[in-house]
Amino acid sequence: MHTVRKISRKRFFIILGSILIFPFFYIWIASIQRHNKIQPGNKKLIYPLDLSAGVHFEDQIIIIKEAGKFTVLSSRCTHLGCKINKFENNQLICPCHGSAFDMEGSSVKGPAVKSLQKYSHSIDSKNKKLIVHLS
Ligand code: FES
Repeated sequence: MHTVRKISRKRFFIILGSILIFPFFYIWIASIQRHNKIQPGNKKLIYPLDLSAGVHFEDQIIIIKEAGKFTVLSSRCTHLGCKINKFENNQLICPCHGSAFDMEGSSVKGPAVKSLQKYSHSIDSKNKKLIVHLS
């Protein structure tokens, strides 16, 4: 004889919620990782070596090329972390509260007091690439 076991509505929703929570967390974590280009194990960014002279605002870094020399700085303001996206009067300007940094990343106007993080880089002249080392 075949018996059908009844479950309460409350128990049904608890089971359904338990099943749905895992895909939700998976999608949520995947979207965070997609947003954050710098992932564990991916500690290098590669750019073409023939960038034009001047200031280049990338996703998480600022590349400055002057007289063939590169300087690579974090684009995150040391005040509250806004993305620096403006270059004016030879200074990098944060759009949030107006902090300014010189071309070496030193703070020249607050509220930020700390310098921007500077990243080391190397040049792969064979493949004509600029390799930025994030670690
Ligand atoms: S976050 Fe840049 S000045 Fe406040």
